[in-house]
Amino acid sequence: MEIQLWRSILCPYELAVKELMVKFEHIIDEHKQNDLYSPIEQVSGRVKSLPSILEKMQRKHIPMEKMEEEIEDIAGIRIICQFEEDIDTVASIIRSRSDMTIKSEKNYLKHIKQSGYRSYHLIIYYTVDTINGPKRLQAEIQIRTMAMNFWATIEHSLQYKYKGEMPLHVAERLSNAADAIIALDREMSSVRDEIMDAQNSSQTQSNLVKDILLSIENLYKISNKREVEKIQDEFLRVFRTKDLQQLARFHRQLDIIAEGYRAQSVSF
Ligand code: GTP
Ligand code: MG
Repeated sequence: MEIQLWRSILCPYELAVKELMVKFEHIIDEHKQNDLYSPIEQVSGRVKSLPSILEKMQRKHIPMEKMEEEIEDIAGIRIICQFEEDIDTVASIIRSRSDMTIKSEKNYLKHIKQSGYRSYHLIIYYTVDTINGPKRLQAEIQIRTMAMNFWATIEHSLQYKYKGEMPLHVAERLSNAADAIIALDREMSSVRDEIMDAQNSSQTQSNLVKDILLSIENLYKISNKREVEKIQDEFLRVFRTKDLQQLARFHRQLDIIAEGYRAQSVSF
């Protein structure tokens, strides 16, 4: 087949990967803006390269006309979580979405692969709009923790290095490392509540500071400069205390001051 044709086959997959990444990244933003802990830490995506597609077709004896149906990971999304508990949350989010339909799920957390590989995989149907109309295609979503990702990345490069003929002593080391990763994820889960509290309050603080700075900026427009400078000094003092309650109180006071100015300007 001609290179040009390949390009046009892969084009909608490029769009799907871009769209899916935007959507999952937006889930992170939505959580942060609402002072909520995000079950997603990071998102990445890729369209399978032509050589990898050809290699897979050969390895699995897939004929050309079955390519899009049988190669489920032409579009691939990887979602990285901080904690193992988050993986279920993310899978539920995906199941409940109206723009993604689940084709199949593979739980390599419950059924760890021979290699030691752990991850949660979903194959979804997703529709993109192209200049030739809507096109429904498949995408593979891999969900794993940072620790699992660390292991899978190293293991993948070793697989690549040894081209499927991994020496036994290397495979054994990787298997030990996989056990260590399981222990690490478990340890992290046990301190999850504390870590989440710390992250939450730092997110809340950063949102509060953002709001306060916006309020001060608005006050500049409606109040006199000397007054705002006093407010700004007071803000810096409160900010240095690093006390969330004081910051929140200061924010409420600012709101009341701004409200007062608005009431005045209305009466003019
Ligand atoms: P592929 O032909 O490799 O796609 O396997 P499959 O069609 O049987 O699907 P499977 O769910 O086993 O694997 C899908 C993807 O998961 C792979 O393309 C890899 O990205 C990842 N994966 C699966 N097994 C392993 C593993 O042992 N090590 C690493 N590093 N990644 C794996
Ligand atoms: Mg694959």
